[in-house]
Amino acid sequence: MNVSCALSDARAILSDQTEAEILLSFAMRRKREFLISHPEAKILPTALRRFRMLSAKRSSGVPIAYLTGHKEFYGLDFCMEPGVFIPRPETEILVEEVFNVYRKNYELRMTNYKLRICDIGTGSGCLAITLAKHLSKAHVTAVDISPKALKLAKKNAQIHSVADRITFFKSDLLDVIASKVKQSPFDIIITNLPYIGLNEDNFVSKEVLDYEPAQALFGGETGLELFEKLFQQIIAMRFKPQWLIAEIGFSQQQALAKLIKKYFGNTAVLWKNDLAGLPRMFTIFFNKSASLRSA
Ligand SMILES: C[S@@+](CC[C@H](N)C(=O)[O-])C[C@H]1O[C@@H](n2cnc3c(N)ncnc32)[C@H](O)[C@@H]1O
Repeated sequence: MNVSCALSDARAILSDQTEAEILLSFAMRRKREFLISHPEAKILPTALRRFRMLSAKRSSGVPIAYLTGHKEFYGLDFCMEPGVFIPRPETEILVEEVFNVYRKNYELRMTNYKLRICDIGTGSGCLAITLAKHLSKAHVTAVDISPKALKLAKKNAQIHSVADRITFFKSDLLDVIASKVKQSPFDIIITNLPYIGLNEDNFVSKEVLDYEPAQALFGGETGLELFEKLFQQIIAMRFKPQWLIAEIGFSQQQALAKLIKKYFGNTAVLWKNDLAGLPRMFTIFFNKSASLRSA
C-alpha cells in the first residue's frame, strides 16, 4: 500500500486529514513533508499495522499527543505521555508576558541580571523549559504535585539542555518552597493552575475528561480554590515575588478580581485577552518601585 491509499482509507475513521498525516508520518518514522511530497511512497507492513492501530485509537478519542508522545509548544518539541497535561497554544501568552516583563523591568536596567522564575504546576515543563531556553541567564524553580509530571518535565529539561538551570520540587503549590526560603526567592511566579470548577465539567470535551489527568484540570468546586490557596501562601511568604502571572478560565475575570482585591488590596493588575478577545491571563505587580506596563 502507498501513502495516498493509506490516507484515503483512514478517512473512514479519521475526519481530520492533518491528524491522519501526523499519525502516518509517526508510524513510518518519516517527516510529514515527505508524505505530502511522496504520495506514491510504499509503506512497510509493520508501519501500516502501526498506522491502523494508531488511527483506531485516535478515533476512539485518545489525544494525538499521547499517541505520538510529542507536542509542540512555543516552537519547541516536548515529550508527552498519558497522565501529564498536554500544553495548549493559548498558554503561550504567559511566555510572551514574562518576556515583556523581563524586557521592560530587568533587561534594560540590570545587564546580566539572573531572573528568578517559579513555575507552579509545571506539568510537562513546557513553561519552565521554554523560559529557561529563551532567557539564558534565568534560573527556574518548577513545582508540581504530580510525580509523573515532574519525571517527564525533568526528561524534557534534559532534552532541551536546560536541566542545570531548573530546580524541580514536588510540592503542593508553594508549600515546600515557602518553608525553605531564607531570602527573596523569585522575581516572577508564573502559573497555569487547574482552573475548571467541578460543576463546569460540561464545558470540557469528553476527550479531555476521559484522557487528561483530573488533577491537572479541576480547581475545586468553583475552579478558584488553588488560586485562593496560592494567594494565601504568597501573603504568608516573608519575601514576596514581584510579579505573579497566571492563566485563567475565560469566565473567571470578575471572580478573580474580587479574590485578588481580598488578598492583595488595590495592587496593580493587568488583564490580557486571548485571540478570541476573552480574558485569559492576569499579571499582578507587587512592588511599587517599578511600573506595570502592558505590551
Ligand atoms: C493545567 S496543568 C498545566 C501544566 C503546564 N504548566 C502547562 O501549561 O501545560 C496544571 C498542573 O498543575 C499541577 N497541579 C495540580 N494541583 C497542584 C498543586 N496543588 N500544587 C502543584 N501543582 C499542582 C498538575 O499536576 C498539572 O501538571
